Amino acid sequence: MTIWAIADIHASGRDPLTGQPLKPMDVFGERWAGHVERLEHAWAQRVSSSDTVVVAGDIDWALHLEGAMDTLHRMAAWNGRKILVRGNHDYWWSSKTTNKVRAVLPPGMCLLHNNAYVADGYNICGAKGSPVPGSSEWTPQDEKLLNREVQRLETSLAARDPALPTIVALHYPPFYAGQQTSPYRALLETDGVEICIYGHLHGDAAGTGPNVALGGVHYQLVAADATDFVPVPLVDSRGDDEACLPVGAPYGSADRPASDRVTLAVKDDR
Ligand SMILES: [Fe+2]
Repeated sequence: MTIWAIADIHASGRDPLTGQPLKPMDVFGERWAGHVERLEHAWAQRVSSSDTVVVAGDIDWALHLEGAMDTLHRMAAWNGRKILVRGNHDYWWSSKTTNKVRAVLPPGMCLLHNNAYVADGYNICGAKGSPVPGSSEWTPQDEKLLNREVQRLETSLAARDPALPTIVALHYPPFYAGQQTSPYRALLETDGVEICIYGHLHGDAAGTGPNVALGGVHYQLVAADATDFVPVPLVDSRGDDEACLPVGAPYGSADRPASDRVTLAVKDDR
């Protein structure tokens, strides 16, 4: 059994007549053409029904829950258990509507919000996260969000099984290479987290987040366009660790043409 991670699927509902996505992503470059189908294909080839996949936010563009249901049902048909984290673009799922979302989730999907799960001998904890001081998107107004999200991560970590190692999923990067520090990094290291995966960084920005082991924590960007829309294996209980957690350059970023580099608008629903 393997634990996988992916973030920033950025799917949308489909036109019932044409089957085409309501929000095509290839406006952000050829790299995004047919991106959900490519992910779907890669997922089917790699993920088995007994695996777990952590999906770290920016799942669907819908503004309301009804609009996200097409994607949620589509994903539910893919192999494995899915553990979902909120992203800044998931307007269809706010902190306040978590129970409402949970009530309509298809089988095999669960929400990571102020809680923790166990998968294959690992705790899966997480939170949406937030901009961090010193990053380009940080504003003083983010202080409240930062404090709240750090608290949510603390709540999630408090819910884990202390006997098991821990994987944390955040949507936002826990810190940036330019600053190196943040309350998230401090918490992850203090609490003995083994692996922290995150998304949010697209195109050129992929290189600004950590893809290294620091302070005992292995950090890995898993934004879908940085992985060429392929889920990333984190740990494998069958002992196939060779395939897991490559440290260093982000997946698929080295040969990316400049024309495919994109920056998605950053906005947060709090
Ligand atoms: Fe995103």
